[in-house]
Amino acid sequence: MGSILVTGGAGFIGVNFARRSVPSMRRRVVVLDALTYAGNGSSLDGLLSDQLVFMKGDIRDTDLVGRAMAEHEVDCIVHFAAESHVDRSITGPDEFLSTNIDGTHSLLKAAKSAWLAGDGVPHRFHHVSTDEVYGTLSATAAPFTEEHQYQPNSPYSASKAASDHLVRAYHHTFGLDVTTSNCSNNYGPFQFPEKLIPLMIVNILHGKPLPIYGDGMQIRDWLYVEDHCRAIELCLEKGVSGEVYNIGGNNERPNMEIVEKLCTMIEERFAADATLADRFPDCPAAHGKSNMSLVTYVADRPGHDRRYAIDYRKASSELGYEPSETFETGFSRTIDWYLAKEEWWRSVMDGSYRDWLEKNYSTR
Ligand code: NAD
Ligand code: TYD
Repeated sequence: MGSILVTGGAGFIGVNFARRSVPSMRRRVVVLDALTYAGNGSSLDGLLSDQLVFMKGDIRDTDLVGRAMAEHEVDCIVHFAAESHVDRSITGPDEFLSTNIDGTHSLLKAAKSAWLAGDGVPHRFHHVSTDEVYGTLSATAAPFTEEHQYQPNSPYSASKAASDHLVRAYHHTFGLDVTTSNCSNNYGPFQFPEKLIPLMIVNILHGKPLPIYGDGMQIRDWLYVEDHCRAIELCLEKGVSGEVYNIGGNNERPNMEIVEKLCTMIEERFAADATLADRFPDCPAAHGKSNMSLVTYVADRPGHDRRYAIDYRKASSELGYEPSETFETGFSRTIDWYLAKEEWWRSVMDGSYRDWLEKNYSTR
């Protein structure tokens, strides 16, 4: 068996995949990551070995990808690399189209020339995508199945939709062996504090406003990141070439419920551990106050999707996928991780992230 190339393996889900899934794979894994603001090489600390190799590089560089594939005899690609934050896609869509569309096409071209020349070699290209390609649901509509019409509403989801179509086309036209997973919102360790859950945790700890877009009643289907990684493992093991699998958490919640839960769970931790008040003196809970006092309603996100929900019956029946973490257990693990790994989130928040926040929140 050859090596697996994991693109975007220094980002949130890629790092969790490297930590959870790679050790059991018994084959070499090459992480290729450009280390944008969202990628952090230090998240792979302690993992790098002969089995897990890191390469800094851009998926849009087809020659580089081709050389890496030849050098490491890659026969499988798990493609995470992307620009992934909807708000950034609204203020600066160009990078999303370039990375998510051109970048995916660059990988497909490299894969086609490495794997389909002559008689071809056995291979698999797994594309990691999102439920956001399906657009938005009304409160009573049935959850997204794999047959749901694509109706992407943000530049992010439109660029992911385009990448899904390219992956499908390379299968249909050239016979590339591909699978695609469309997953709901992930949360857990190593998520950059610009997405809802880690941003709220960090702001609560600092006593900063908790920005709620619009009425805060938008619904997402939250999935603990390790459950997503397990689903990707199952796609690699049992997924049928050319097929798409929706992955969800069976855990639909409005944003306000998420924020309330985080506020309460952090208050409970401050009540149980007096050292937290010393470490985070600006947190309302450090003074016996409610963290919910930080909630601040702000202007809604333009084009904000109201509801996402996933029907994952296909992944369940064909792959044996089921999420294992509940809302309670997943949130506990996540909050405890951010409390323990203050150094990690402080380091990733240095620099470009802060500049971006300044620019975008002052103009929102
Ligand atoms: P992330 O933003 O945390 O990480 C993206 C990684 O890709 C970073 O390490 C970054 O450095 C790297 N990268 C960006 N551009 C690159 C380029 N041109 N070349 C090489 N590397 C590059 O994203 P994430 O949340 O880990 O998401 C990973 C994938 O999963 C994405 O494709 C995303 O669309 C998809 N997805 C995410 C979620 C979620 O809730 N986070 C849900 C469903 C699907
Ligand atoms: P986000 O984590 O950005 O994921 P996505 O937009 O891909 O679903 O946002 C999740 C939800 O939380 C979304 O409805 C937007 C909302 N949100 C806020 O209300 N405030 C915030 O500060 C952020 C980052 C998100």
